[in-house]
Amino acid sequence: MASAPREQWTSRTGFLLAAVGSAVGLGNMWRFSYLTAEHGGGAFVLLYLALTLLIGLPVLLAELVLGRGAGRSPVEALAHYGGRSWRPLGWLFVAAGLLILGYYSVIAGWTLRYALTAVIGGFPEDPGAFFGEISSGPAALVWHLLFMGITVAVVAGGVKGGIERTSLVLMPLLFALVIGLAVYAAALDGAASGYEFYLAIDFSQIWSFETLHAAAGQAFFSLSLGMGAMLTYASYLSRREHLPNASLVIAGADFAVAFVAGLAVFPLIFALGLSGDVGESTVGALFITLPKTFAGMGAAGRVVGLLFFVALAVGALTSAISLLEVVVASVMDGLGWERRRAALLVGPAIALVGIPAALSLDVLGTMDQIAGNVLLVLGGLFLAVFVGWVMRDPMAEVQPGAEGVGWFALWRWLLRIPVPIILVIVLWQSLQALLGE
Ligand code: PHE
Repeated sequence: MASAPREQWTSRTGFLLAAVGSAVGLGNMWRFSYLTAEHGGGAFVLLYLALTLLIGLPVLLAELVLGRGAGRSPVEALAHYGGRSWRPLGWLFVAAGLLILGYYSVIAGWTLRYALTAVIGGFPEDPGAFFGEISSGPAALVWHLLFMGITVAVVAGGVKGGIERTSLVLMPLLFALVIGLAVYAAALDGAASGYEFYLAIDFSQIWSFETLHAAAGQAFFSLSLGMGAMLTYASYLSRREHLPNASLVIAGADFAVAFVAGLAVFPLIFALGLSGDVGESTVGALFITLPKTFAGMGAAGRVVGLLFFVALAVGALTSAISLLEVVVASVMDGLGWERRRAALLVGPAIALVGIPAALSLDVLGTMDQIAGNVLLVLGGLFLAVFVGWVMRDPMAEVQPGAEGVGWFALWRWLLRIPVPIILVIVLWQSLQALLGE
């Protein structure tokens, strides 16, 4: 079976940028803004931050520990520490990867299409109609396939030559774009009302189960947790890496980008008085209101809009790479296939999974609900139980590179009790919401 020695990241920065690249994506800009709009602004942001710390960080560290400790892809890593009966959980991760990348790539395709529109004809007068035309059907399909092609090309290039190199170039660009957009938005007339909506906290909204499960699902989705992406990336790490610090950097950067993206999105939307439109379409919010804003801003709007959609596309690509890598690494480990062959076969399979999402917005929305609020939460629940209760000595695996850290006992306790309890409640809520629809 697998013969070549396992690849490793060339540098700590390379790993961190790749992991942050996985975390930062459509989740931070598209999903975060529409959920914030839907759940009352500041209250959602606060709850999301709290859950990132309380359940996101411990599960993130659990994935890093499992991946580095076993040095394998998810299926084999779980079998390594828990025995063969845990293998199906690994395959659940792979299935989640297939499903998520399928529709994720369709949305990423929209961002490419919008970037091109900014360059060629400028943003349309009626973005609602435009979005309707390009979001599903043949147009969506073509861009979805194009995006999958790019993703496959990067992953086929390997951990160092493909994933790490791409992240080193693209992530700094993305940070610069998002910060630049936020600074620009701050100068707009009417920005203040955007900030107010985004940052003022209406505490009555926090105590709703609906907000809770949306925020928890978002914490998992945004940190790429619950399906083995972080686990897989950590499997290419050496034992010198300080995993607790890495988890803090990844979670910190992920929240920061979402937060700064919100500082750009909400003033832009409110500056032109389009806030009423945001609630109308959930998945489409960003793709309808923002182009409307850009169209109303003349030539500047084309430049700003182009930069905005380029940032989205860049974020989407580095995240899509990690989704594909989970499946590719599993196929390589499980079947002994060589990387290129695995990538070239898995890529088209995922492209097929995405076709229904490219043909119907409703299907896409449902796939997103199932993936984000059910599969990832379920995966996270199992991971917490696995590292908290099943794995014999997680402390011994987190120690190397992080000797002397004092709060591992707290970490394990969180994984054992609070995290599973919260996740069971969230899962129950999500399932009810999904079945109720
Ligand atoms: N975290 C990515 C984003 O925010 C999405 C993702 C989810 C990537 C799960 C990998 C695994 O866009």
